Parts: sequence; C-alpha cells; structure tokens
Amino acid sequence: MTAQILDGKAIAQKVRLEVREGVARFSAAHGRPPGLDVLLVGEDPASVIYTRNKEKASHEVGMRGRLHRLSADTTEEELLGKIAALNTDPSVDGILVQLPLPKQIREARVLDAVDPAKDVDGFHPVNAGLLATGRPALVPCTPKGSMRLLAEAGAHLAGARAVVVGRSNIVGKPMAQLLLAAHATVTLAHSRTRDLGAVCREADILVAAVGRTRLIQGDWIKDGAIVIDVGMNRDDDGKLAGDVDFDAARSRASWITPVPGGVGPMTIATLLENTLHAARARVG
Ligand code: GUN
Repeated sequence: MTAQILDGKAIAQKVRLEVREGVARFSAAHGRPPGLDVLLVGEDPASVIYTRNKEKASHEVGMRGRLHRLSADTTEEELLGKIAALNTDPSVDGILVQLPLPKQIREARVLDAVDPAKDVDGFHPVNAGLLATGRPALVPCTPKGSMRLLAEAGAHLAGARAVVVGRSNIVGKPMAQLLLAAHATVTLAHSRTRDLGAVCREADILVAAVGRTRLIQGDWIKDGAIVIDVGMNRDDDGKLAGDVDFDAARSRASWITPVPGGVGPMTIATLLENTLHAARARVG
C-alpha cells in the first residue's frame, strides 16, 4: 500500500475560509471583529516566526490581531500584569502566551493567570479539566487540528486502536483525550515505553508527538494505518523532519501527514477557529 498524503496545507486553507465567514458574521452582528492578542517574551527565533504568522493569519481572516513583544528580561510580575490587563479588556477574545518562556518566568503561574474564557491555547487547568471530563470548551490547537485531519481522511475512530506517542500537555495528553472521546481505544506511549515498536504496530491510528527525528520506523506501522506526525525536528542536515520515517512509513500506511505541510498549518488555522469560538461564547 502507498499512503495518500493528508495535505494539511489544503485542509488548513479550508478551515481558514470557514473561519473567515464566521468572523464576517460575528463582526456584522456585534460591531467589532474577534480579537486575538499574542504575547511573546524574548527573541527565540522559531517563536518570533510562529507569533508573526499567528498575527498575520488573524488579519487574513478579518480579526483584530496584535502581537505584544516583551524583552527577554521581562519579570514574571510584568507578564502577569499584562495578562491581567488583557483579561479585563472587552475587545480581547483570545490570549496566547507563546512558549517556551524565559527561565525567570514560571510557566504554570502564567498559564493559570489567563482567563479560561480567553484561553485559546486550551492550556489552562480549567480547560484541560473540562476536556478530560468530556465537556470540552477551548481545546489545544495542535490536537484539535489533528482530529480534523483524521476526519478529513475519513478515519473510523470508534473502536479503533489509537496509539499516541508523546505525553506533553500541549499535544500528547489532549490528543489522547480527544481520541478517547471519539470512542477509540487509546494507548498513551512515550519515549520510555518498553518495546515501543510493538505498541505502535497495534495502531490503526498512530499519532507521533515526541520530538525525536524519525524515531518511528517504517516497520512499526500497521498496514493501512493512518499516521499523524506532529514532530517538527531539525535533522543533521538542518532540514525539517518529523518523528516518523516518512518514506518507509508511506509504503504501509493508508494516509500519512508530511512534515512540513501536515499538522503544522493546522495549528494556526485551529487557533483562529478557537478565537472565533471564544468570541462567540463571550458575547453569548
Ligand atoms: N509553542 C509551541 N507550540 C505552541 C502552542 O501551540 N502554543 C503556544 N502558546 N506556544 C507554543
């Protein structure tokens, strides 16, 4: 079998068009566009690019988008003050604090400070708890976008065996929750899982989110599996590479996401979706 490519770029474009229509309706009904505020502390080169792209994407769908750039020596109190101001600003529907944060700032304190109703990343413990208890509100963007990719591939999730490799709060854990809510039988594996290959070989749906270049080998892929590769790694030549050995996996899977051009574009499209969702929920 040669897998079909799950084209995240094309599907993300479709999502953006859907959001654009929703934004136009929201703006006409409420006399203002949905507003997204992105906070970036420091100069991490990848984060600078990601946050610029988020701001630009918000403008393209007709939102009010603002990128707030704070210096690398910003204190925790300064950042918390900024978040408190955005929490009470009625024109702000979505607040996103780009990670990672500089080491003088405690990530948990910052994420806990964002109003859960404006937490378009879905990282606040309230939103994580709602997802875990089957009452999803704002859901983390990368796993939500990955679920959309599975839907576009026509995946039958009920009763399927899903293996998620990686246990981060941003991707692995919420992805496992979403698959479970869709009635899959979910295994949450990680870098310390014993005989990871044998676990992966059971997967009808395999989601790789560990951040290790080509950790997932071709012969770990079950025939006909759908493979979602969340990895964004630089290989030894500086080229972008996923967590899955794409060429080898492609000869076994039914569908597979490329890197780049798979999950990556879905993350920003889903952020826009979440911002529109937050705006609608806030007005009522
Ligand atoms: N850093 C890497 N991915 C993400 C993300 O999805 N949201 C935020 N806020 N920071 C990130």
